[in-house]
Amino acid sequence: MKQLHKQSSVNHRRDEEIPSNQTPPYSPKSLKQPRSLPRSINYLFKEQRLLFILVGILIGSTFFILQPTLSRLGPTEVRSSIPRSFSTDTNTTTTTATISHTQDASGSYSADSNKPFHGKVGRVPVGIGRRRMRIVVTGGAGFVGSHLVDKLIGRGDEVIVIDNFFTGRKENVVHLFGNPRFELIRHDVVEPILLEVDQIYHLACPASPVHYKYNPVKTIKTNVMGTLNMLGLAKRVGARFLLTSTSEVYGDPLQHPQKETYWGNVNPIGERSCYDEGKRTAETLTMDYHRGAGVEVRIARIFNTYGPRMCLDDGRVVSNFVAQAIRKQPMTVYGDGKQTRSFQYVSDLVDGLVALMEGEHVGPFNLGNPGEFTMLELAEVVKETIDPSATIEYKPNTADDPHMRKPDISKAKELLNWEPKISLREGLPLMVSDFRNRILNEDEGKGA
Ligand SMILES: NC(=O)c1ccc[n+]([C@@H]2O[C@H](COP(=O)([O-])OP(=O)(O)OC[C@H]3O[C@@H](n4cnc5c(N)ncnc54)[C@H](O)[C@@H]3O)[C@@H](O)[C@H]2O)c1
Repeated sequence: MKQLHKQSSVNHRRDEEIPSNQTPPYSPKSLKQPRSLPRSINYLFKEQRLLFILVGILIGSTFFILQPTLSRLGPTEVRSSIPRSFSTDTNTTTTTATISHTQDASGSYSADSNKPFHGKVGRVPVGIGRRRMRIVVTGGAGFVGSHLVDKLIGRGDEVIVIDNFFTGRKENVVHLFGNPRFELIRHDVVEPILLEVDQIYHLACPASPVHYKYNPVKTIKTNVMGTLNMLGLAKRVGARFLLTSTSEVYGDPLQHPQKETYWGNVNPIGERSCYDEGKRTAETLTMDYHRGAGVEVRIARIFNTYGPRMCLDDGRVVSNFVAQAIRKQPMTVYGDGKQTRSFQYVSDLVDGLVALMEGEHVGPFNLGNPGEFTMLELAEVVKETIDPSATIEYKPNTADDPHMRKPDISKAKELLNWEPKISLREGLPLMVSDFRNRILNEDEGKGA
């Protein structure tokens, strides 16, 4: 023990003997010693290090705050080939079953925007910087579809029309040929198709009784299989889907005017049921894809609409009367002419469809003009507009012809901020000039 003690004291003395101006030998212990807090702070303050750190943080956070805004304002020409909904919000692809719904007193569904699914699919930010969308319009070569396409192209979107030309005509969209934002595909919606799009307006279906009764089984197939295919597409690519249903879902209504909550009075085995029940089934499918698969959907119930580009001689009352009066033929009134209808000008309908697609509410929404006319009153307006000497011829009424039709549009007024602006007396002359041109052109008149 003594020896040990001795040795340590010798060592100690040796340490003391090292001159103070010489560097001490290497000792790892001295490196491990923690730097004291005041020294670290001192280090930060030296040579403006703190200032540089703060400036760095400021630049970084400014970039991350501004980046989303800049990308929204960026050139609209550049777009991903991946649907936007997939590239920006992966939740929409994975949480499809978590959507929740609220159904209000008038039977309209609205998706709950607080829930995780309620995605950004096809959502259009209000105001500047709206990104160009790619939109499919099925039945886009038809009467309503072609006006809708004009509106979408006019506001800068890309539009793909799918049409089998059963009642549609290339002439309705020929003015868009050559426009790089317009595509036309001859395709029957009964067959599936895969396209990358943000929105789907599903209009494909013959709309006039003459056409939908021509091949009733095909009409049902178009409504059921066509709607299934388009809903499947919407689900696959995360697009928003709008169905153009009809006031015919109310059948021969026992409630007047018709609200969206009314379930209708439809003959399921009648001549018109291929159309009426077809559209009712299309509505059912639309809601089932919404509830079950989380597809964003919208449902419009369209009431009688008229305007340029309607098929001549399609059996619809306005086009019938106008074409007959121009040709100096008697206007055919079925039944006693006291049944009522409401007539909406096509641009009002198109505005309503777009408001519905861009809005937050699923629907269904009645889109129609609540002004109500008997067939005889309509014939009077046509006479005033075209030919005061025009005559009327009466024929027996067709099966299941509804006695009255008038939309209650309070829901659309309130939730879509939409209502028709053009009265029958204002809209009819616009249609008449188009019909005159086409009837004068003999080929068109025959081949429409
Ligand atoms: N115009 C109205 O008054 C009215 C009223 C209620 C509902 N609607 C609905 O609005 C939509 C458009 O009606 P519209 O008046 O423009 O009719 P329309 O007959 O002029 O247009 C229908 C279009 O769909 C196309 N089409 C039909 N079957 C198809 C198929 N299997 N595959 C692909 N394309 C097909 C036709 O060729 C035509 O271009 C229809 O769904 C109709 O039921 C219209």
